[in-house]
Amino acid sequence: MPAVAVSHGGEMWVCEGMTKTLDRSDILEWAEHEHAHMDRLFQDLRETFARIAASDVSDAQAREAVDQAVDDLRGALDDMLEHFNEEEEVYFVAIEGRFPELGPQVARLVHTHESICRKVKRMTHQLAKPLPQVREEVKGLSTQLDELVVTLEDHNEEEQVIFATALKRLSSDERVELLDKKMAL
Ligand SMILES: [Fe+2]
Ligand SMILES: [Fe+2]
Repeated sequence: MPAVAVSHGGEMWVCEGMTKTLDRSDILEWAEHEHAHMDRLFQDLRETFARIAASDVSDAQAREAVDQAVDDLRGALDDMLEHFNEEEEVYFVAIEGRFPELGPQVARLVHTHESICRKVKRMTHQLAKPLPQVREEVKGLSTQLDELVVTLEDHNEEEQVIFATALKRLSSDERVELLDKKMAL
């Protein structure tokens, strides 16, 4: 994710994917911001897929759009892996430790992380096929992408609810400690 400086109490942080100043104790704001970043990545991909599917583009233009889509998918996977890893290693561990009753919901979130990453990898492999085949199959790929976006949106909403019910019940100091752990990963 692109880096930007974030300030709090006179302290500057350089954080990935952030575009505004956030209170470093506000985990919900951070999560919302990173989720919005991932939404944007997939909206860009939708546009790129539409370029591949357009009937009036040359093979050269379609090739360029396919290469762009592969780059975008790889970038999205890298950003998601980083984001999912931070959630699993820091936030989910803290939630399960303090609120064990949320264990099944956390397990479902982890399962969805794995499923999303698998689907993104599969789409990347499909784009590696010869260009005429990719152009033929691009409508199916667009459908997969639309389904993936819905899955990601549902996942992010569910996560925000869990963060709101669990992490907000931690003290400000505890939340800062979690964000420090996230930044140290
Ligand atoms: Fe997640
Ligand atoms: Fe998330």
